[in-house]
Amino acid sequence: MSTNALFAPFALKSLQLKNRIVMAPMTRSFSPNGVPGPDVAAYYRRRAEGQVGLILSEGTVVERPASSNDPNIPHFYGEQALAGWQHVIDEVHAGGGKMGPQLWHMGVMSENGSGWKPSEAFEGPSGLLKPGQATGKVMTENDITDTIAAFGRAAADAKRLGFDCLELHGAHGYLIDQFFWAGLNQRTDSYGGDELTARSRIAVELVEEVRRQVGEDFVISLRLSQWKQQDYDVKLAHSPQEMEAWLRPLADAGVDIFHCSQRRFWEPEFENEGSDLNFAGWVKKLTGKTTITVGSVGLSGEFLAGFAGEASEPRSLDELLRRLDRNEFDLVAVGRQLIVDPNWVEKIQQGRSDEMKGYSREALSTLV
Ligand code: FNR
Repeated sequence: MSTNALFAPFALKSLQLKNRIVMAPMTRSFSPNGVPGPDVAAYYRRRAEGQVGLILSEGTVVERPASSNDPNIPHFYGEQALAGWQHVIDEVHAGGGKMGPQLWHMGVMSENGSGWKPSEAFEGPSGLLKPGQATGKVMTENDITDTIAAFGRAAADAKRLGFDCLELHGAHGYLIDQFFWAGLNQRTDSYGGDELTARSRIAVELVEEVRRQVGEDFVISLRLSQWKQQDYDVKLAHSPQEMEAWLRPLADAGVDIFHCSQRRFWEPEFENEGSDLNFAGWVKKLTGKTTITVGSVGLSGEFLAGFAGEASEPRSLDELLRRLDRNEFDLVAVGRQLIVDPNWVEKIQQGRSDEMKGYSREALSTLV
């Protein structure tokens, strides 16, 4: 099957991409004291030169107490870290690429499980804290206001440094997602409530603030997941109706792209709807917004079988192309394949499948 659909250009507001392939945000922990150095810049430049359409940075934390749990995770604040990021974006541009930082606050998962959290009670299937761990600090309304402002400052910096777009990390059980999740957000003020839409208020305000900082033409992506890092089998929205109620206010607040995190792009989002649309497919259908799909693109069955203890058959690129062709989503993010092989995109384009490198966890120990 022709890979042309993957190599069609894409334009949204001020963002112009040469193809549909996005490098998924992936923490690498190679930024001592939160400062990305020349090795990190060179790593991203190699992906730009390898024809990745859009690079999303590894999660980079905003300036709040307890936003990180690892001194080697990059900051997106402070003179030194921002100078590092300036070098990164300049290198990516010199390599012919486009890039946005993924702005992050870990919430209770910061400070190794004792960070900031939406509420005292942690219930339900997605308990983030192990028994005996410190319970962290419940965020006050002032903490929330200050955190929203910190995301706003980071967004303004992203634009000032010359990044092409930005992404907010609202997925995988980190701060924003902790507010979405009923078992974690049992606040009784206006940032909590029985409805998912009520628990989305922090995300809506955050998007509004970021939009105020970057203006109308700058693309804002919001990464969301139904699953949590700690718990794969949960869902925030159980039906298309719930999903629409969740996402409409976020779209109205200024999200341009929903980056729909799934572990496997071929898994249907709602089993009972008589449709094989995946998460990104449903979100595009319900919001009319641009969506990015992700999840096991290019990975081997052998590798997938070892992931989360489940056997799984990989799906070929053909299935991805078929879905892209029918406009199920707009862009395709690739994670682990791009950790191990900066030239993976080029190889796909040129049909050099015999040169593909298989992913293994050992690849995480160096910046190839
Ligand atoms: C990730 N992922 C991730 N996601 C995110 O939103 N922010 C992040 O900082 C990270 N960090 C991260 C590190 C590493 C080492 C891996 C492997 C993954 C998830 C990632 O973006 C992607 O969604 C998954 O890896 C699934 O895509 P692939 O790898 O199957 O193509």
